[in-house]
Amino acid sequence: MTQKRQLIVQEDPKSPIAEAYRTLRTNIQFAKIDGNLQTVMLTSAGPGEGKSTTSANTAVALAQSGKNIILVDCDLRKPVQHKIFGKRNRGLTNILVEDIAVEDLLQDTEIDNLRILTSGPIPPNPSELLGSAKMLEIISHLKSLADIIVFDAPPTIAVTDASVIASKMDGVILVLDASTVRPEMAQKAKELLVKANGNILGVILNRVEIEDEHAYYYYYYGNEHSRSK
Ligand SMILES: Nc1ncnc2c1ncn2[C@@H]1O[C@H](COP(=O)(O)OP(=O)(O)O)[C@@H](O)[C@H]1O
Ligand SMILES: [Mg+2]
Repeated sequence: MTQKRQLIVQEDPKSPIAEAYRTLRTNIQFAKIDGNLQTVMLTSAGPGEGKSTTSANTAVALAQSGKNIILVDCDLRKPVQHKIFGKRNRGLTNILVEDIAVEDLLQDTEIDNLRILTSGPIPPNPSELLGSAKMLEIISHLKSLADIIVFDAPPTIAVTDASVIASKMDGVILVLDASTVRPEMAQKAKELLVKANGNILGVILNRVEIEDEHAYYYYYYGNEHSRSK
């Protein structure tokens, strides 16, 4: 899939898919009313469900509304944001292990108001890095640099990375591939996130078939459980 196809909000803003991302943007902005929602993480049960595509397009849609946005690739196992945005990959892990300032590795994108912090080189110990005090420091520093920070995270089942970051986020969105995810896996992912103290804002059902069997569509419903903890 080409870069253009992946950033559909920018390349085809009138499409129903772009409209769906803008609905998601509105939901995220709306979620802010109940509290200070500045950091949002997207995760899923397993790999390939659409986390990175959804994170990238949601970040673009948020930036298009005039807010100052940073997209962070914290999938330190299978990072792709540098590819989607065509950027060099020095980023988060460089800051975590070397003495480099966040500002030095934040990269502008071709979208106004959107900057990206790519993953950096893949490390041997992702969970440990993501759970470190330094990571907490980086998140808090990022908050001083943008209105909303979108984190593209690893999947929730199989590795602990997403659970580790979830507790440090204001909100968590679960992206589920409607065509492949098994209900018990979705349930398991939700349980793991709740156990990790993640504030689940809602679920995005990706790859929901509508009308035309080749169409893909993103549907969002929020608050299905969240603040009940
Ligand atoms: N709704 C969709 N319809 C068709 N292809 C999609 C859809 N969502 C994602 N993809 C494609 O599926 C692949 C995996 O998506 P990605 O966002 O990288 O998933 P993840 O980050 O969860 O591993 C990518 O090639 C992406 O372009
Ligand atoms: Mg991904």
